[in-house]
Amino acid sequence: MNIEQIFLNNKVWIEQKLKNDAAYFENLSKGQNPKLLYIGCSDSRVTAEELMGVQPGEVFVYRNIANMIPNTDLSAMSVINYAVTHLKVDNIVVCGHYYCNGVKAAMQSADLGILNPWLRNIRDVYRLHKPELDALQSEEEKYKRLVELNVQEQCFNVIKTPDVQKAYKERKLTVHGWVFDVHSGNLIDLKINFGKILEEIMEIYRII
Ligand code: CO
Repeated sequence: MNIEQIFLNNKVWIEQKLKNDAAYFENLSKGQNPKLLYIGCSDSRVTAEELMGVQPGEVFVYRNIANMIPNTDLSAMSVINYAVTHLKVDNIVVCGHYYCNGVKAAMQSADLGILNPWLRNIRDVYRLHKPELDALQSEEEKYKRLVELNVQEQCFNVIKTPDVQKAYKERKLTVHGWVFDVHSGNLIDLKINFGKILEEIMEIYRII
Protein backbone atom coordinates (compact mmCIF):
# COMPACT_ATOMS: atom_id res chain seq x y z
CA MET A 1 0.00 0.00 0.00
CA ASN A 2 1.24 3.43 -1.00
CA ILE A 3 1.12 5.69 2.05
CA GLU A 4 1.21 8.87 -0.07
CA GLN A 5 -1.86 7.65 -1.94
CA ILE A 6 -3.77 7.63 1.34
CA PHE A 7 -3.26 11.38 1.71
CA LEU A 8 -4.35 11.93 -1.90
CA ASN A 9 -7.44 9.80 -1.22
CA ASN A 10 -8.14 11.94 1.82
CA LYS A 11 -8.17 15.12 -0.28
CA VAL A 12 -10.62 13.55 -2.75
CA TRP A 13 -12.82 12.40 0.15
CA ILE A 14 -12.91 15.92 1.61
CA GLU A 15 -13.89 17.37 -1.77
CA GLN A 16 -16.69 14.81 -2.18
CA LYS A 17 -18.07 15.43 1.28
CA LEU A 18 -18.02 19.21 0.86
CA LYS A 19 -19.67 18.97 -2.55
CA ASN A 20 -22.67 17.27 -0.94
CA ASP A 21 -22.70 19.40 2.19
CA ALA A 22 -20.53 22.51 2.57
CA ALA A 23 -20.95 22.41 6.37
CA TYR A 24 -20.13 18.69 6.68
CA PHE A 25 -16.92 18.98 8.69
CA GLU A 26 -18.16 21.99 10.62
CA ASN A 27 -21.10 19.90 11.82
CA LEU A 28 -18.89 16.86 12.47
CA SER A 29 -16.65 18.94 14.72
CA LYS A 30 -19.57 19.96 16.95
CA GLY A 31 -19.57 16.59 18.74
CA GLN A 32 -20.75 13.01 18.54
CA ASN A 33 -24.04 11.47 19.59
CA PRO A 34 -23.87 7.81 18.48
CA LYS A 35 -26.65 5.56 19.75
CA LEU A 36 -24.97 2.25 18.91
CA LEU A 37 -21.76 0.65 20.16
CA TYR A 38 -20.27 -1.76 17.61
CA ILE A 39 -17.78 -4.35 18.86
CA GLY A 40 -16.12 -6.19 16.00
CA CYS A 41 -12.99 -7.99 14.84
CA SER A 42 -9.88 -6.10 13.67
CA ASP A 43 -9.92 -8.20 10.46
CA SER A 44 -9.27 -5.88 7.49
CA ARG A 45 -12.16 -7.40 5.53
CA VAL A 46 -14.77 -6.63 8.17
CA THR A 47 -15.36 -2.89 8.35
CA ALA A 48 -17.78 -1.33 10.78
CA GLU A 49 -19.44 1.66 9.08
CA GLU A 50 -19.27 0.38 5.51
CA LEU A 51 -21.04 -2.94 6.06
CA MET A 52 -23.81 -1.21 8.04
CA GLY A 53 -24.15 1.70 5.60
CA VAL A 54 -23.72 4.33 8.30
CA GLN A 55 -21.80 7.60 8.36
CA PRO A 56 -19.10 9.01 10.65
CA GLY A 57 -20.72 10.10 13.91
CA GLU A 58 -23.41 7.41 13.95
CA VAL A 59 -21.63 4.46 15.58
CA PHE A 60 -19.08 4.16 18.40
CA VAL A 61 -16.62 1.47 17.31
CA TYR A 62 -14.35 -0.93 19.15
CA ARG A 63 -12.39 -3.64 17.34
CA ASN A 64 -9.88 -6.21 18.51
CA ILE A 65 -8.78 -9.71 17.52
CA ALA A 66 -11.89 -11.94 17.36
CA ASN A 67 -14.26 -9.34 18.92
CA MET A 68 -13.54 -10.33 22.50
CA ILE A 69 -14.81 -8.68 25.68
CA PRO A 70 -12.80 -10.16 28.55
CA ASN A 71 -14.02 -8.41 31.69
CA THR A 72 -10.41 -7.99 32.87
CA ASP A 73 -9.39 -6.10 29.73
CA LEU A 74 -9.05 -2.41 30.59
CA SER A 75 -9.52 -1.27 27.01
CA ALA A 76 -12.76 -3.23 26.46
CA MET A 77 -14.17 -2.18 29.83
CA SER A 78 -13.30 1.49 29.22
CA VAL A 79 -15.07 1.44 25.85
CA ILE A 80 -18.22 -0.08 27.37
CA ASN A 81 -18.15 2.34 30.28
CA TYR A 82 -17.74 5.39 28.04
CA ALA A 83 -20.33 4.27 25.48
CA VAL A 84 -22.97 3.24 28.02
CA THR A 85 -22.48 5.77 30.82
CA HIS A 86 -21.39 8.89 28.91
CA LEU A 87 -22.62 8.51 25.32
CA LYS A 88 -25.70 6.65 26.56
CA VAL A 89 -25.99 4.27 23.60
CA ASP A 90 -29.27 2.33 23.32
CA ASN A 91 -27.82 -0.71 21.55
CA ILE A 92 -24.61 -2.71 21.77
CA VAL A 93 -23.67 -5.05 18.92
CA VAL A 94 -21.06 -7.79 19.08
CA CYS A 95 -20.31 -8.66 15.45
CA GLY A 96 -18.17 -11.69 14.67
CA HIS A 97 -17.42 -13.00 11.21
CA TYR A 98 -17.00 -16.32 9.44
CA TYR A 99 -13.41 -17.11 8.39
CA CYS A 100 -12.09 -15.35 11.52
CA ASN A 101 -8.40 -16.15 11.83
CA GLY A 102 -8.49 -15.54 15.59
CA VAL A 103 -11.13 -18.26 16.00
CA LYS A 104 -9.26 -20.54 13.62
CA ALA A 105 -6.01 -20.10 15.60
CA ALA A 106 -7.85 -21.02 18.81
CA MET A 107 -8.97 -24.30 17.19
CA GLN A 108 -5.37 -25.36 16.59
CA SER A 109 -2.74 -26.71 18.97
CA ALA A 110 0.02 -24.16 18.61
CA ASP A 111 2.03 -21.88 20.84
CA LEU A 112 1.20 -18.38 19.64
CA GLY A 113 3.16 -16.46 22.26
CA ILE A 114 1.49 -13.28 23.49
CA LEU A 115 -1.68 -14.32 21.65
CA ASN A 116 -2.08 -17.41 23.87
CA PRO A 117 -3.94 -15.73 26.77
CA TRP A 118 -6.15 -13.75 24.38
CA LEU A 119 -7.10 -16.77 22.27
CA ARG A 120 -7.50 -18.90 25.38
CA ASN A 121 -10.80 -17.08 25.88
CA ILE A 122 -12.01 -18.67 22.63
CA ARG A 123 -10.74 -22.10 23.73
CA ASP A 124 -12.93 -21.61 26.83
CA VAL A 125 -15.91 -21.02 24.53
CA TYR A 126 -15.12 -24.33 22.82
CA ARG A 127 -14.91 -26.10 26.18
CA LEU A 128 -18.28 -24.64 27.27
CA HIS A 129 -19.95 -25.89 24.08
CA LYS A 130 -17.86 -29.00 23.46
CA PRO A 131 -20.73 -31.53 23.04
CA GLU A 132 -22.47 -29.37 20.40
CA LEU A 133 -19.25 -28.62 18.51
CA ASP A 134 -17.92 -32.19 18.63
CA ALA A 135 -21.22 -33.46 17.19
CA LEU A 136 -20.69 -31.44 14.00
CA GLN A 137 -19.28 -33.45 11.10
CA SER A 138 -16.86 -31.16 9.29
CA GLU A 139 -14.14 -28.78 10.47
CA GLU A 140 -15.86 -26.05 8.41
CA GLU A 141 -19.12 -26.50 10.36
CA LYS A 142 -17.25 -26.47 13.69
CA TYR A 143 -15.36 -23.35 12.64
CA LYS A 144 -18.54 -21.50 11.67
CA ARG A 145 -20.43 -22.56 14.76
CA LEU A 146 -17.55 -21.57 17.04
CA VAL A 147 -17.62 -18.10 15.46
CA GLU A 148 -21.33 -17.86 16.36
CA LEU A 149 -20.88 -19.26 19.86
CA ASN A 150 -18.00 -16.87 20.48
CA VAL A 151 -20.27 -13.95 19.56
CA GLN A 152 -22.89 -15.31 21.97
CA GLU A 153 -20.36 -15.66 24.80
CA GLN A 154 -18.98 -12.16 24.18
CA CYS A 155 -22.56 -10.83 24.37
CA PHE A 156 -22.75 -12.55 27.77
CA ASN A 157 -19.49 -10.86 28.74
CA VAL A 158 -21.01 -7.50 27.80
CA ILE A 159 -24.09 -8.30 29.90
CA LYS A 160 -21.91 -9.23 32.89
CA THR A 161 -20.74 -5.62 33.28
CA PRO A 162 -22.46 -3.38 35.86
CA ASP A 163 -22.76 -0.49 33.37
CA VAL A 164 -24.86 -2.60 31.02
CA GLN A 165 -26.98 -4.12 33.82
CA LYS A 166 -27.68 -0.61 35.14
CA ALA A 167 -28.52 0.79 31.69
CA TYR A 168 -30.89 -2.10 30.98
CA LYS A 169 -32.76 -1.33 34.20
CA GLU A 170 -32.85 2.40 33.57
CA ARG A 171 -33.49 2.66 29.83
CA LYS A 172 -33.79 -0.83 28.33
CA LEU A 173 -30.39 -0.89 26.63
CA THR A 174 -30.21 -3.97 24.37
CA VAL A 175 -27.34 -6.25 23.33
CA HIS A 176 -27.28 -7.92 19.89
CA GLY A 177 -25.14 -10.74 18.45
CA TRP A 178 -24.38 -10.61 14.72
CA VAL A 179 -22.15 -12.47 12.29
CA PHE A 180 -20.79 -10.99 9.06
CA ASP A 181 -20.41 -13.58 6.30
CA VAL A 182 -17.27 -12.56 4.42
CA HIS A 183 -18.17 -15.00 1.63
CA SER A 184 -21.53 -13.38 0.76
CA GLY A 185 -21.42 -9.95 2.43
CA ASN A 186 -24.51 -10.80 4.49
CA LEU A 187 -24.97 -9.52 7.99
CA ILE A 188 -26.71 -12.23 10.05
CA ASP A 189 -28.62 -11.53 13.26
CA LEU A 190 -28.11 -14.48 15.65
CA LYS A 191 -31.31 -13.33 17.38
CA ILE A 192 -29.94 -13.64 20.88
CA ASN A 193 -32.88 -13.36 23.28
CA PHE A 194 -31.42 -10.57 25.36
CA GLY A 195 -34.18 -10.38 27.99
CA LYS A 196 -34.18 -14.13 28.69
CA ILE A 197 -30.39 -14.43 28.72
CA LEU A 198 -30.08 -11.39 30.93
CA GLU A 199 -32.40 -13.01 33.48
CA GLU A 200 -30.39 -16.26 33.42
CA ILE A 201 -27.07 -14.46 33.57
CA MET A 202 -28.23 -12.25 36.43
CA GLU A 203 -28.80 -15.32 38.60
CA ILE A 204 -25.05 -15.66 38.83
CA TYR A 205 -23.54 -12.41 37.57
CA ARG A 206 -25.93 -9.86 39.08
CA ILE A 207 -23.87 -6.90 40.19
CA ILE A 208 -26.43 -4.18 40.77
CO1 CO B 1 -11.65 -12.10 12.93
